[in-house]
Amino acid sequence: MTIVQESPTQLVAWGARPAWDDETDTILVCRRRHAVTHDVTTFVFEALAPRRFDYEPGQFITIGVEIEGTLIERCYTISSSPTRPFTISITVKRVPGGVVSNWLHDNLQPGQSINARGPLGQFTCADYPADKYLFLSGGSGITPVMSMLRTLHDLSQDTDVVFVHSARTPIDIVFRRELADIAAASPSVQVAHVCETDAPTEAWEGHRGRLTVETLTQICPDFRDREVFVCGPGPYMAAVKSLLSNAGFDMDRHHQESFVLDELLSDSEAVDAGDADVILAGGDDSETDTGFDVEFTKSNTTIRCATGTPVLDAATKAGLNMPSSCGQGLCGTCKVTLVSGEVDMQHNGGIRPKEIAQNKILLCCSTPRTPLVVDA
Ligand SMILES: Cc1cc2nc3c(=O)[nH]c(=O)nc-3n(C[C@H](O)[C@H](O)[C@H](O)COP(=O)(O)OP(=O)(O)OC[C@H]3O[C@@H](n4cnc5c(N)ncnc54)[C@H](O)[C@@H]3O)c2cc1C
Ligand code: FES
Repeated sequence: MTIVQESPTQLVAWGARPAWDDETDTILVCRRRHAVTHDVTTFVFEALAPRRFDYEPGQFITIGVEIEGTLIERCYTISSSPTRPFTISITVKRVPGGVVSNWLHDNLQPGQSINARGPLGQFTCADYPADKYLFLSGGSGITPVMSMLRTLHDLSQDTDVVFVHSARTPIDIVFRRELADIAAASPSVQVAHVCETDAPTEAWEGHRGRLTVETLTQICPDFRDREVFVCGPGPYMAAVKSLLSNAGFDMDRHHQESFVLDELLSDSEAVDAGDADVILAGGDDSETDTGFDVEFTKSNTTIRCATGTPVLDAATKAGLNMPSSCGQGLCGTCKVTLVSGEVDMQHNGGIRPKEIAQNKILLCCSTPRTPLVVDA
C-alpha cells in the first residue's frame, strides 16, 4: 500500500482519501507556489484534511481571501489535471490595480489557507469527446485549455490536439516550457504561439500579430474538422468567434469561456451613476409599473430595478459595490439572502438546491418579480 506523508504527523493511504465535498470542505492549504512568467504564478493546494479532488478539466473554483478584514472572492480555473487528484493548482496573472490577483502574488505563501468553493463550470472537453481538438487561448485564458491538454496527455490517449496560444510578447507565453515538453513527447500534439511583438529581452521569430484566418490555416489547415475551445480576453474571443464563423466553421463545435474582466471593465466604464434611478432609504418610494424597489438592508439603500434587469446590474448602475465575478450565475460570488419578495433566477450551477431552499439568490442572474428586500 502506498502512503503519503501528509504533514509531519499525518500519514494517509492514497486510496483512503475521501473526495472533496463542496458542501462541507471549504479550506485549501497552499503547499507550493512557483513563478510561471514574470507576472503569472501557479499556486498548488491540498485540502485541509486529506482529500482527493474530482473535477472536469476546464472547471474553476471560487476562492475567498481576507484582505484588510473583508472576505473577497474571485474565480480561478483549476489549471492542474484531474488525473493528479490529490492537489489542485490555480495559475494567476497579476492584473494592474487588481485586488485579489496582486494579493495572491504578494502574500500567499506555502502553509497559508484560503477559502474555496467548487469545482464549478461547464467549459470542459469532457462533455465533448472528439478525435481532434483545437485549443485557442489568449493571455491567462490559457488555464482551462492547459488543464484539458494536461489531462489528455496524462491519459496517453493520442488525441489529436492543436494548441494555439496568443501572447503579447515571447516572455508572456504561459507554460512555454511545459507545452514544448508535451509537444516533444506526444506526436499527436502540436503547439504554436502567436506573439504581438518582441520582448525587450527576446526577439520573436514565430507567428506575429493577432490570430487571423491566414495564420490559423497555416498552423492548422484542418481547423474546420475540430472541436474548438476558446478562452481569453473579451476582444480576443469576439475576434476568434467571427474568424471561425466567417470561415464557415460549424459553430455548434465552438465552445468559449470568458473571464469577463474586459466585459466588466467596459460595463463599469460605461456606467454613469447619474443614470441610475436611485432612491435612498427614507426617500420617495412610490411604485411605478416599470420596475420594483430593491432594498439592501446592510447598505441601508433602496434602488429601482427595471423589469427584466438583473438585480446586480441595477445595483452596480446605482453605484453600489456588490461582490461579483462571473456575472453568469456560475461562480456564486454574488450570493445573498432574499429576506422578502420573489425573483426569477436563471443560474448556471453557481447555487445549490439546498441554498435556494434557504432563500439564497444570485444577484447577477435574478430579476425581480415583486419588490425585494435582500440582506446585503
Ligand atoms: C470562470 C473564471 C475563471 C477565471 N480563471 C482565471 C485564471 O485561471 N487565471 C487568472 O489570472 N484569472 C482568472 N479569472 C479572472 C479572476 O477571477 C479575476 O477577475 C482576476 O484575477 C482579477 O481580479 P482582481 O481582484 O485582481 O482584480 P479586481 O480588483 O477585480 O480589478 C480588476 C480590474 O478592474 C480595475 N478596477 C477595479 N475597480 C475598479 C473601478 N471601480 N473602476 C474601474 N476599474 C476598476 C482594476 O484596476 C483592475 O484593472 C477567472 C475569472 C472567471 C470568471
Ligand atoms: S457573479 Fe458569479 S454567480 Fe453571480
